[in-house]
Amino acid sequence: MSGVVAPGLEGVPIAESGISFVDGEKGVLEYRGINIDNLAAESTFEEVCYLLLKGSVPSESQLKDFESHLCENRKLRDGVIKIIRTLEPTGHPMDALQAAVAATGMFFKHNVSDPGYRYLAAIQLIAKLPTMVAAFARIRKEQEPIEPDHSLGHAANFLYMLTGEKPPEPAAHILDVCLILHADHTMNASTFSARVVGSTLADPFTVVCSAIGALSGPLHGGANERVVKLLQEIGTLDNVEPYINAKMDAKEKIMGFGHRVYKTNDPRATVLRGLADELLKSDGDNGVLKIARRVEEVVTARLGTKGIYANVDFYSGLVYNKLDLETDLFTPIFAIARVSGWLAHWLEQLEDNRIYRPRQIYSGEHGVTIARPK
Ligand code: SDX
Repeated sequence: MSGVVAPGLEGVPIAESGISFVDGEKGVLEYRGINIDNLAAESTFEEVCYLLLKGSVPSESQLKDFESHLCENRKLRDGVIKIIRTLEPTGHPMDALQAAVAATGMFFKHNVSDPGYRYLAAIQLIAKLPTMVAAFARIRKEQEPIEPDHSLGHAANFLYMLTGEKPPEPAAHILDVCLILHADHTMNASTFSARVVGSTLADPFTVVCSAIGALSGPLHGGANERVVKLLQEIGTLDNVEPYINAKMDAKEKIMGFGHRVYKTNDPRATVLRGLADELLKSDGDNGVLKIARRVEEVVTARLGTKGIYANVDFYSGLVYNKLDLETDLFTPIFAIARVSGWLAHWLEQLEDNRIYRPRQIYSGEHGVTIARPK
């Protein structure tokens, strides 16, 4: 059987899905047919989770029930906290998150064929990821983890569990919008990983562990923390052009730019640029914002004709920085949001499952003997 390999499966449809839609030429993203700009402006992360998982906007009472289910399941078991205390404090929080998710899954009797189990497992994972990230972030600094506060929404409670202070409404709202923007994005690498592992009928905690691993890479979710480091390395407005041109001359990838699908502005970057403007200009702390805007100008001027523009990761780091979030928590925050999309795709995969087993084109030899070198 001949055939041509598609590197990175570029352009290869591997599933039919009704969860989200991207038009890379027009820069459009929709969740269940609703434009991301409308959701960012009018919805909440909890409502978007319900929309992604269930396929429709919840009624007021359905949303209330869903929010209660999430609140009731935020707390971690003592055994998981004990494990987090044993983890290497200098390790990356994405590795800690993977360990905490795997450990949490061990407390459940899995039955992926049961719709009731599937819903409860999804609730557990969406509810608990913020608590896991916050617990590790504090324990690694020898601070005691803070119990979830059921009076707070998902985003606000995450900020609260990091500091013990109830966040000001604007900060909570901005993080809520960021979670909405990061919730799903068709067949990206981590979602594909979730579908592959889910197709083997592995449990959803294992599915999410695999997706966390894929998201942690610098070409995927790991780009946002590298953008902040890039802007810090550039340091001044005058240094933007020489620094960026040197990287592009060396054919190095500029973190936060380019996308396999978008060949124009990533609509999420547009919303995040506005949030960054709002946050940084109001404080007059717009030195780094000016550097970021200049980086965007220089890169787009040179690579825009190749369809390379700022992506979701370019401005998210600036916003998180302004919310006083530690840089190595940026990708875990991406996971806190994307877990809703991973689980929606897991549920959709199980509706008409077939284990993923693509093929290869063999390029090795045949009939080789065991000839051991002297
Ligand atoms: C996310 O898939 C998704 O939807 C992901 C995501 C989601 O929500 O799940 O949107 C989230 O992962 C956003 C992307 C975050 N990653 C980065 O910002 C890392 C930097 N970006 C690149 O590594 C790259 O753009 C990718 C990985 C995002 C896309 O890579 P592709 O589609 O495989 O493109 P490519 O590497 O084949 O590049 C094509 C050309 C090359 O030049 P030529 O060899 O043709 O001359 O574009 C150039 C590349 O060198 N290029 C860049 C570049 N990205 C591509 N040049 C400079 N800087 C960049 N960032």
